[in-house]
Amino acid sequence: MIRRVALCAAALVLPLSAAGDPLAPTGRWSANTAGHAPVPPMGWNSWNAFNSDVDEEKVLASAKALVDTGLARLGYRYVNIDDGWWLKRRQPDGRLIIRTARFPSAATGTDPSFRPLTDRLHAMGLKAGIYSDIGRNSCGQIYTPDFKNQPEGTVAEREVGLYGHVDQDIRLFFAEWNFDLIKVDGCGVRGLPAEAPRVRAGLYRALPPLIDTQSLGDTNISAVRTLYEAVGAAIRRHAGHRDYVFSLCLWGSADVRSWGKDVGNMSRTSDDIQPVWARMLTNLDTVTHRALYAHPGSWNDADMLFVGSGAFDEAHLTEARSHFSLWSILNSPLIIGYDLRKLTPALLTIFGNREIVALNQDAAGNQAVLAYDSDQAQFFVKSLADGSKAVALFNRTATPVDVVLTAGHLKMLPTRDVALRDLWSGKEHRFRGELPLTLAPHETIVFRATGARQLPDGVYLSEQPGRVNPAFDGVLLPEADPTIHRSITPWIGTRGGGEHVQYAGWGGAEADRAPYGKLLRVARTEYDTGIGVLAGSRLEVRNADFRRFTARVGVNDTGLPAAGTITFEVWGDGRLLARSPAKAFGEPAELLAADTTGVRILELVARGAGARPDLPTQPATWADAALLR
Ligand code: GAL
Repeated sequence: MIRRVALCAAALVLPLSAAGDPLAPTGRWSANTAGHAPVPPMGWNSWNAFNSDVDEEKVLASAKALVDTGLARLGYRYVNIDDGWWLKRRQPDGRLIIRTARFPSAATGTDPSFRPLTDRLHAMGLKAGIYSDIGRNSCGQIYTPDFKNQPEGTVAEREVGLYGHVDQDIRLFFAEWNFDLIKVDGCGVRGLPAEAPRVRAGLYRALPPLIDTQSLGDTNISAVRTLYEAVGAAIRRHAGHRDYVFSLCLWGSADVRSWGKDVGNMSRTSDDIQPVWARMLTNLDTVTHRALYAHPGSWNDADMLFVGSGAFDEAHLTEARSHFSLWSILNSPLIIGYDLRKLTPALLTIFGNREIVALNQDAAGNQAVLAYDSDQAQFFVKSLADGSKAVALFNRTATPVDVVLTAGHLKMLPTRDVALRDLWSGKEHRFRGELPLTLAPHETIVFRATGARQLPDGVYLSEQPGRVNPAFDGVLLPEADPTIHRSITPWIGTRGGGEHVQYAGWGGAEADRAPYGKLLRVARTEYDTGIGVLAGSRLEVRNADFRRFTARVGVNDTGLPAAGTITFEVWGDGRLLARSPAKAFGEPAELLAADTTGVRILELVARGAGARPDLPTQPATWADAALLR
């Protein structure tokens, strides 16, 4: 896990939008706010239920079920058609043609149109979503031999993806067909090198891959970002005047962690979920350390729900509740992937748990932060808009686990009562200091908690990740994201050596942790609260009438004595408010305070200096970082 500072590499990964110095304060919030995702989008998608075997009857039946069961009123509004809807790209005008045999209402004359279907969904009070790919071809064409409803015709007619047709297709989807959401997959810029068997066989045109999911070195990050930015710009042109959602599907590859939040409304953090316990854990693990990368307008997407199927079916309701609780508290979009024609009362109780859904849809938009972590149990704590907290206590294993929840996990005082409401059983509890509990195998207990907060006159930044944006997180050499593809993937089974851990290291900013999930510790003093981020970073913080910022700043003990010093700066709306002396490894953290009266955007800059180029980037600690009234 060596993080080398290589100046030449910096040019590769600087955010494209930040012409010049990425550490230069701008006084602006740079994460995406375009489109409409103030809270995580909710709804239904055809893929997990039907794969590409999708048709109008299935889509409408699920839409009707959303309305009839009251789920739509709870927020499940998006009805999304995934892969499998297209027949071909007509030549020579390039218009996309819908498979009308499967979507009869689209047969509206010479030019098939989804408008009757989207009109119908809109009339039901719902929203409509469509699917495309950033390359020339779709995932099904490239990766799935027995894919139903493959596009048909000549090589050109089967090029149904956006590549070379961005404006034309986005205009068609949003202006003509009136869709409200688009999910843009990335297989077309990943799987069609000249030597691919299907290219050799003359089925598809080669497109030199921009993405290699196994190698960031072989990935053209800026080219991928540029393609997605062009789609975003086209959506703004054709639908900028109304609500829309732009969903990125790059499975955590192409360093999308660092830029997806600036470009789209939701961004996939991992490869496809399966209805398998271990795979659900894999997807979960890809979002748990990313709380600072999710905000109103741009969410981490752990993939669609598999509640109702396989390991999360009627016979496994504990597992189903866990999957649903975790996605909710981590602010992943709640997109049902179940054939709702088969919905049972037990499953409806899960999708329809109003209080759990409310955690996901909470207006403050704070993804839960990992407050306790082990291979067996994890606690996720989320700060809610009304000042209360929610905590999910999760047993990852197949045996019971004894755990102790403390007031400290909730950043509440141990000397005062904490009132808890169990959001699955409805039971109320009270404790002072500590609460011992036993988690059943695979169980998640979710409490809403009120008590006396440790910081009565303000908030810790790590309690407000939705207000903190790592505009530049100091990761100069992007290494693999923690996409821990360790499950058995259905398409290769257990052939070969398996999918090895890709935990090569990831130095992104973390709440209550140092980069790489290490402890926040400066000069041997441990802090349970704060922000950890590599030097050479700039965090943007939305202020809300707080008048003072304080933090204890220093070089984290995971750094190295010879890796240089860090100077910490606090900026307010583009003006320097406070600066620390250069801090070296082993020096105690020191208080840095600034008057933030009237400031809208605070920027926290950690500048590294004097590092030997052969040494890792020094980790910066903003311990106890807080905004005070
Ligand atoms: C995958 C994507 C899935 C689904 C599928 C369709 O790349 O992650 O969610 O959309 O393609 O072929």
